[in-house]
Amino acid sequence: MPFYHKLGNIPPKRHTIFRKPNGDLYYEQLFGTIGFDGMSTNSYHEHRPTQVKEIRKQYSVQPKIAKANNMQSYRFRGFQVPPEADYLESRKVVLTNSDCNIILAAPQESTRDYFYKNTDADELIFIHKGTGKLRTMLGNLDFKYGDYLLVPRGIIYKLDFDTDDNRLFIVESYRPIYTPKRYRNWFGQLLEHSPFCERDIRRPYELETNDEKGEFLIKVKKQGDIFEMIYATHPFDVIGYDGYNYPYAFSIHDFEPITGRIHQPPPVHQTFETDAFVVCSFVPRLYDYHPESIPAPYNHSNIDSDEVLYYVDGDFMSRNDIDAGHISLHPAGIPHGPHPGAVERSIGQTETEELAVMVDTFKPLQVTEEAMKIADEDYFKSWLE
Ligand SMILES: [Fe+2]
Repeated sequence: MPFYHKLGNIPPKRHTIFRKPNGDLYYEQLFGTIGFDGMSTNSYHEHRPTQVKEIRKQYSVQPKIAKANNMQSYRFRGFQVPPEADYLESRKVVLTNSDCNIILAAPQESTRDYFYKNTDADELIFIHKGTGKLRTMLGNLDFKYGDYLLVPRGIIYKLDFDTDDNRLFIVESYRPIYTPKRYRNWFGQLLEHSPFCERDIRRPYELETNDEKGEFLIKVKKQGDIFEMIYATHPFDVIGYDGYNYPYAFSIHDFEPITGRIHQPPPVHQTFETDAFVVCSFVPRLYDYHPESIPAPYNHSNIDSDEVLYYVDGDFMSRNDIDAGHISLHPAGIPHGPHPGAVERSIGQTETEELAVMVDTFKPLQVTEEAMKIADEDYFKSWLE
């Protein structure tokens, strides 16, 4: 996150002597991205963060592809993904390409026996159902319905749920996920026209410092495999850190919609950007106020991006027969638009309660076997009159 953040105790000067009360040195770790050019964090540990005892197992979690080259619009009924006790096992990749995985998960239990680290991908976790705490080596974040949790690659974390009925929509991105550059000035401050500001970004608090030795399992994801690595010291042993690279939370309910006299295009809803896809938030808002305006979108041909919409809540104005937890996939190459009746229905409406997350990928998405289990095969005919 491009704001400076400091938590816990750090020495006044980096790369200098910093001692524990007993006189021993703390162990400094520079945690950087994009070599030494990206955002980084400088953290101080009770123990060396390098003490691997054992690599127990290695296994693939690559999704199985049902349709590698897809030209069909789909609806997927996300809440039909069955709940599973374990967080990692509950994660089902439904759509994938070489830049990202789009995942649905309904974990019932907190991660207790292990820690998790994704070395390849930033994870954007949208909380549709459930409350709890994201616990990381760089501090904790409380989460609830409507939160986006951004966990940069390499951050060791756990999810603690207060609830057992949890629904998550996750984008695992091999490209770094940032907030849109056009919302920031030359200094990195969010501009007045940005739909969110610094006050809306929640940074980690409650740093956990565990000075413990033993056997600690970290499930490390790398290149589609999970490596079960045993470390000799507790992964959450940071006494303090500062820098720019840390997890953060942002609530979709804090996204301030940009509206106009006539229909505004999807970029006004943009919340996150990468160089491989964008993420947009469709939130309750007043409709267009030109006296002749048509609030429903026009037909559009997203010729070079696949459009994934995850429906969260409210009545989605342009679609018929769409419920919470559904995903629509409109592939690149063919036009799509409002369902029959939606344009007429929208005329004269003054506001919408819709809540949805959109992911537009610039490379085509492959449809997985997990997705086909919850697919509506006839959705592509839903525009027929
Ligand atoms: Fe669209």
